[in-house]
Amino acid sequence: MIDRPRRASDPPAEALVLCRTLVLVGLMGAGKTSVGKRLATLLGVRFVDSDSEIEAAAGMSIPEIFATLGEPAFRDGERRVIARLLSEAPCVLATGGGAFIEPRTREEIAAQATSVWIRASLDLLWDRVRDRPGRPLLDAPDPRAVLADLDRRRSPVYALADVTVDSRRGASHESMARGIAAAVRRFDAGHPARPPTIGVAEE
Ligand code: S3P
Repeated sequence: MIDRPRRASDPPAEALVLCRTLVLVGLMGAGKTSVGKRLATLLGVRFVDSDSEIEAAAGMSIPEIFATLGEPAFRDGERRVIARLLSEAPCVLATGGGAFIEPRTREEIAAQATSVWIRASLDLLWDRVRDRPGRPLLDAPDPRAVLADLDRRRSPVYALADVTVDSRRGASHESMARGIAAAVRRFDAGHPARPPTIGVAEE
């Protein structure tokens, strides 16, 4: 399901009630955290970033976790943190780029939440991550090639998300957040047998 511009007939964002957690997935640099914060404000719910939660639980930064415990331990902690967050009140949850790739994490997200892939071109992703350290997978001699390889391998898995929204260069966080809310409402409308993600507040 692809983004479309806001229409005058859409209900105001203030009238929307989040009934199911919205999980943002996609590669590093897609904008999951920045857009997610705006989306949470729009919907009047808590914003949570799974990487920050893992860092708080471990008392270490992501690079320190990768360096001292290794990636498998990080993935295990990531799955447990996300499972805990999914059991709490509906919120906007930004996940690290590898979370949705792990089958067990993906299954838990599919069972309890609505997933949104923020899709972006490799050029856009690279422009956003190239000067930002702190991503151990990109700590490599040719980080752009690593990102390109992750993009190629992971995109078919991200495509399993309930909703896909394209991140365009120059699009504001506000317009991205509104585009996601609109796309999720269309997804809900097309799946009436499923618990709704976004409801409308009673007058
Ligand atoms: C990772 C992405 C990072 C972080 C970790 C691993 C990945 O999160 O979880 O460095 O596997 O793509 P962001 O997508 O928020 O950068």
